[in-house]
Amino acid sequence: MDHLLNVLIIGGGGREHALAWKLSRSASLGNLWATHRMNPGIAALTKDLGFDYETAKSYRLGQFCKDNEIDLVVVGPEGPLAAGLADELGSDETFVFGPCRAGAQLEADKSWAKQIMRAANVPTAEARTFDNAEEARRYVMARDEACVVKASGLAAGKGVYVACSAAEAAEAIDEIMVRGAHGDAGRTIVIEERLQGPEVSVFALVDGRDVLVLDTCQDHKRVGEGDTGPNTGGMGAYSPTPFMDADLMSLVQREILIPTVDALRREGIEYRGVLYAGLMLTPGGPKVLEYNVRFGDPECQVLMPRMDGDLARILHATAAGQLDQIVDEVEFSPQHTVCVVLASEGYPGRCQTGVPITGLEEANAIDEVQIFHAGTRAGKRPDEVVTAGGRVLNVVASGATLFEARDHAQRAIDLIHFDGMMYRRDIGHRALGARQ
Ligand code: AMP
Ligand code: GLY
Repeated sequence: MDHLLNVLIIGGGGREHALAWKLSRSASLGNLWATHRMNPGIAALTKDLGFDYETAKSYRLGQFCKDNEIDLVVVGPEGPLAAGLADELGSDETFVFGPCRAGAQLEADKSWAKQIMRAANVPTAEARTFDNAEEARRYVMARDEACVVKASGLAAGKGVYVACSAAEAAEAIDEIMVRGAHGDAGRTIVIEERLQGPEVSVFALVDGRDVLVLDTCQDHKRVGEGDTGPNTGGMGAYSPTPFMDADLMSLVQREILIPTVDALRREGIEYRGVLYAGLMLTPGGPKVLEYNVRFGDPECQVLMPRMDGDLARILHATAAGQLDQIVDEVEFSPQHTVCVVLASEGYPGRCQTGVPITGLEEANAIDEVQIFHAGTRAGKRPDEVVTAGGRVLNVVASGATLFEARDHAQRAIDLIHFDGMMYRRDIGHRALGARQ
């Protein structure tokens, strides 16, 4: 590129704040625009579109990209990708980081994703697809063992039921297919063999053909300490993780990621963006639990601070199909990072919003700490920030060791307050336990 890159970022959570933060530190960045400037963290780093993204039609956004010579659109969440935003905005001048609608089915249609995995010969749980509740019930009763029942469509991470018995599985089938807990996303379900082992997330940049695996990290999905309570979007993450070493990463690249990208190409899909493999490390080797078509949230928040290189250039090259031009630029620092999610009371259920938050500036002033806004907005008083969702803030800290990073994060958390604030004190516990 011989000019600075104009970038538009879509999405309004902590993941997008982390991406905007890293983009804004890129030497190659020109202007940075954002659709979700309700998030004060994103607003502080970006320019306003001048119209409301939620009510605008995609041609309005397309026109905006033309008028403002946008080189790159970075799409954070899966929803717009599954709805075909990359197909609509992509052009010879504007590249989109994030797959086309067909590619986004990897996340938006679990039944189809299983077909791709089979075609690619990728290790994954055995599975069958059903669109009839009675047949599904008969199947689980006949097998009479633990299994996992999943709504096939997008269900914001809530459509997965890990069942210990056939009766529990039958209950999940009723919940999804009869009572319609996830609407149309549950018209089709996937019933899988239940796997055992530690879980890790692997993120790779994919430019349609080539695959570049990023450094390792691990999420904490359960709401409670010691991995108890209901599943959430993620209560914290840390990077790197001792559960993945270089050999395992190269195995995942060789046997899982590359065959998947090849299988997509055979379907005529040129996949560009992040491919996120949720893996279970079973005694028989790593197996894919699910694919996502975006960065994990909060995994992105621990990867970005460790990533060296010019993110605007890296994402642009990926979206342009030129990963080979930047492979040498993508490096990760030896620092450890941890992200602790500060959530509202009641999360992952209903939460009160509009609660004032204090201490943000003091916490952000700690050298080793970066605060990303997940669910906040500006309050009525000048400089006031209030809660606006379940996951409110991401406290990200770095250190020479995971212990150190956790200490820095805790120092920052001690300075922050909002009524009902809750968080897990044990982020990274599996890694710390594994090392002892
Ligand atoms: P998913 O959204 O498909 O990753 O599923 C959410 C969570 O359900 C995962 O993080 C796992 O903890 C669990 N899970 C999903 N599929 C399986 C499986 N086949 N066996 C065991 N646990 C699973
Ligand atoms: N943290 C898990 C996810 O983003 O799906």
